[in-house]
Amino acid sequence: MNFLLDLKHLKHISLLTRPVICKCLLVVIGLIVLRAIVSPFLAINLSEKSFYEPSTLDLFPGVRKDKFVEVPQIIWGLNNQKIAFARACLTAKFLNRSLLMPSLSASLFYKEVDFLQPIPFDKVFDFTKFNARCHGFARLARYSEVSNHTEPYKLQKGSGRRWTVERDLDQLQQSKTGEADGYQVIHVTGKHPFLWPDHWPVKNYAKVFDCLALAPDIEAEVVKVISKIKDAGEKARHEAAISHKKKSIDDGSLNLPVQYIAVRMRIEKDWMIHCKKWEKRSNLKEICSSKGEIIHKVSQITDLRRPVVVYLAVADSLLEDDSVTSGWRVGMIAYEKKKLGVTDIYERQPYLLKSAIDFEVCARADVFVGNSFSTFSNLVVLSRTERLYKLGVESSCGEDVGLSSYAYNVIGDDGGPQRWMTDMLDTSLQRISYGTNNISCH
Ligand SMILES: *[C@@H]1O[C@H](CO)[C@@H](O)[C@H](O)[C@H]1NC(C)=O
Ligand SMILES: *[C@@H]1O[C@H](CO)[C@@H](O)[C@H](O)[C@H]1NC(C)=O
Ligand SMILES: *[C@@H]1O[C@H](CO)[C@@H](O)[C@H](O)[C@H]1NC(C)=O
Ligand SMILES: *[C@@H]1O[C@H](CO)[C@@H](O)[C@H](O)[C@H]1NC(C)=O
Repeated sequence: MNFLLDLKHLKHISLLTRPVICKCLLVVIGLIVLRAIVSPFLAINLSEKSFYEPSTLDLFPGVRKDKFVEVPQIIWGLNNQKIAFARACLTAKFLNRSLLMPSLSASLFYKEVDFLQPIPFDKVFDFTKFNARCHGFARLARYSEVSNHTEPYKLQKGSGRRWTVERDLDQLQQSKTGEADGYQVIHVTGKHPFLWPDHWPVKNYAKVFDCLALAPDIEAEVVKVISKIKDAGEKARHEAAISHKKKSIDDGSLNLPVQYIAVRMRIEKDWMIHCKKWEKRSNLKEICSSKGEIIHKVSQITDLRRPVVVYLAVADSLLEDDSVTSGWRVGMIAYEKKKLGVTDIYERQPYLLKSAIDFEVCARADVFVGNSFSTFSNLVVLSRTERLYKLGVESSCGEDVGLSSYAYNVIGDDGGPQRWMTDMLDTSLQRISYGTNNISCH
């Protein structure tokens, strides 16, 4: 790869006069040889692409690196924060600017501004990986990159009924040229990004979400939780083999990878009150599901060989009550954090990180079951659908690659839970942010 880049340099050199070419060639060849000899002794990581890639050779320059957008602190639940972050990124992209790394919020709060607990983006997500994965599409910048410390341009978002999606887009369009564009920093003020009007298609959001990798220490915690789930699955499999007096020698099943189902189970009191009101107000059915209904729906899923572990991603308030793990059918062994013995991993973390760990455990499950009116579940399914698209299997519903998802609150064609993939062609994030029961899998 490095030689390839050097050859590209040679092309540039051929534009120069002839006698210079020979000298240059010699120098370049000399440098290549010298580097080949010296580099094993140096601590230079030759696979670090950016190190040797001159910006002139960059085919995807992406957004400007010397113009920035700054946004208010990002707040509310993990998934509201992810959506707000992506919206801020896409707005910056529209303005052909880098987004100054925003503050997220470690705590879940609704009214108490005193409990905002800002947490830098890079304490939750990997900054370098973000820019590497989003290269050519969107870009995050650090505040140290700002060189002009005069007052930034203030872009006040409008509010009220007269502030339509069209007016908002007009305002952004004007800020692309005109006076605003002269400023190094555009500071967007007013509402926080989750509440900005949405102008971008689902596939652009999916692209930004896909660039979000957890910070290494949080990733390590996710790996620990998943390995505990797999240990539990392994144990269940052995116990089943013993009780059936199976000989593991002629039955290969003990060597197959251990799989698990993750269920985002929303049955805590606050949610039940909220969803009952919601059903009344919207005249929709199929928003709320009881514990019994969820168990019944999940039992109808036959993707995975049993016994199988069902990991329940539930609110902390439900951990007090052991009944969520009971009542499951034979061959489905339910665990939550407490029964799995991972509460210490979670207890060390603030709200946002707890939620981020749960999110990944669900996103990486072999089967995921959630509620189609939950933003959390919607974003889990979006991330799984994005992975299916990358694998080139967008029509299979994910069954054969261990990425199927279901909604337990919607009845599917076969009477079981509805199979679920995100509609990647949707022109806005509306249905994902607020929920829908018009879901399917094609
Ligand atoms: C070099 O960088 C790549 C990509 O960042 C990384 O995967 C690899 O582990 C690094 N190698 C060394 C020896 O640091
Ligand atoms: C953004 O700005 C860069 C540098 O001026 C330019 O090369 C690129 O085409 C611009 N991108 C868009 C989408 O306008
Ligand atoms: C800093 O930005 C302001 C506002 O755009 C501009 O007037 C000023 O010339 C800039 N200063 C430098 C040193 O570039
Ligand atoms: C359901 O969603 C599909 C696309 O995902 C859309 O074409 C259809 O009109 C929607 N149906 C209703 C009743 O909203």
